[in-house]
Amino acid sequence: MSDWTEGYVGDLEYPGMFYAAQAPVHLNLACIIAGFEPVSLDGAFSYCELGCGQGVTTNLLAAANPNGRFYAVDFHPSHIARARETARAAGLDNVVFEERSFSELVSGPPAELPQFDFVTLHGIYSWMNPENRQAIVEFLRRCVKPGGIVYVSYNCMPGWSSGGPVQHLLHRLAGLRRERSDRRLQSALAAIEEIERAEFRHLAGNEFLARIRELNSQDATRYLVHDYLNDCWQPLYSAELASEFAAAKLSFTASADLFENFPELILTPEQRRIVTTLGDGSLGETLKDFALERPFRKDVFVRGARSLGDTRRDALLREMGFALTVPRAEVRLALEVPAGRATLQPRTYEPVFDALAERPHTIGELLQLPQLAGASTVKAVELAGMLASTGQALPTITGGTPEPARRFNRRLVAGLLAGETSRRYALAVPRLATGLSAGLLQLLVLAALSAGRERPDAVADHVHAALASRGEKMIRDGGLVEAEDECRRLVREEVGIVLRDLVPLWRKLDII
Ligand SMILES: C[S@@+](CC[C@H](N)C(=O)[O-])C[C@H]1O[C@@H](n2cnc3c(N)ncnc32)[C@H](O)[C@@H]1O
Repeated sequence: MSDWTEGYVGDLEYPGMFYAAQAPVHLNLACIIAGFEPVSLDGAFSYCELGCGQGVTTNLLAAANPNGRFYAVDFHPSHIARARETARAAGLDNVVFEERSFSELVSGPPAELPQFDFVTLHGIYSWMNPENRQAIVEFLRRCVKPGGIVYVSYNCMPGWSSGGPVQHLLHRLAGLRRERSDRRLQSALAAIEEIERAEFRHLAGNEFLARIRELNSQDATRYLVHDYLNDCWQPLYSAELASEFAAAKLSFTASADLFENFPELILTPEQRRIVTTLGDGSLGETLKDFALERPFRKDVFVRGARSLGDTRRDALLREMGFALTVPRAEVRLALEVPAGRATLQPRTYEPVFDALAERPHTIGELLQLPQLAGASTVKAVELAGMLASTGQALPTITGGTPEPARRFNRRLVAGLLAGETSRRYALAVPRLATGLSAGLLQLLVLAALSAGRERPDAVADHVHAALASRGEKMIRDGGLVEAEDECRRLVREEVGIVLRDLVPLWRKLDII
């Protein structure tokens, strides 16, 4: 077999999951918060995902953004076949999936390629050899529209410095076998355990090894195989990536982790002073990585970033509608942020969340709530940033039909009833133009409602039967519930909570 995988893992599919950071509305908000022009979503726009895996993110976004044209590529035929099947079953006519490698993508004449307002690549760039990284940059050079936004996530330094040796050893040990990748991974992990017991010092207390073991115990083999068994894997300093992207006229604009655009939430006052004194944006980003020590970055680049100015930024934010995404009773004001614990000021945020519980509000309306007048100095950028980065309220869009998202969700629950599984599920949300995480039981409630069940006991029976047919058990106090009566009672209880708290929210967001 000619090696079409170019050293990437090809014998096991990557698990499909939705990543909200790739949503156009989210990337726009990141740019606005950081003070840069977004892409207009008022009319049609174009979007491309490179290395889309099973296409969960692109399909969901296509369903939630009927005015966008979506295009996604991956070189793995099973991934593309699955992605197309989902698009077909959900009746999405605004998405195209192509089985192409990054080098194939740029091998034809430039004129063949469409131009995009958004290009996203999640979990791709650090796993590519230099030739493929170059092909990606060439694609970006040719295909991002002026003013277009690019999202890239990658393993970064120095947070990955203690992970490199573990990846190296795991990859070498797995390379001793000629089996399928999942078995090679297990053999390599067993060998590492023996090595560790023999006190090879470098492995002592290695946090990456601990995390790999934890994921392995959670049945995340496919994810680990794709992350650790590739021939090419290269964590980068943010400045290295920025200099590669500069060849495509892209400049770093914002973090897609919205908190990170607020230095006071991620750096101590002394750290901020040093970063400000140095006065070099790129070095400042590197220092953030030294402060946070996290192994993964989610960066937003723009081709031709245009500064907004405070007045225009405020005006854009004030016009932006926000809707609650969690039941009011579940809203939390306490936050864990990299600089420590923070609390959203109750004086400001309690009335804000109360208002949002009534109906979606624009940031301008929230700032004018009588309870805030004179009592709060909160600015539009902080309010929008805190609502969205905690994920407790998200920007809304107006217009557009909810039908494609509803079809996508019906396809999702039909798949669940047929036994499909995922480590994380997400519903397409028409009003938010993105997805929201949902648990299995919640989705089975949606399945029951879609099947016309209305009375709580009928919904609970439907959910109980679906769980039983999937061989799933309820969990209580960390243990599986085996007794049938107890299981039914727990299902009724949980279903009651979903019907009371979540279903009204789903209705407001046009999910049903
Ligand atoms: C770690 S997975 C990430 C998938 C998806 N973006 C996600 O986050 O769920 C990397 C993906 O890149 C694809 N890929 C790897 N090398 C590629 C190449 N040279 N050309 C196109 N796709 C590639 C793989 O098939 C895989 O689906």
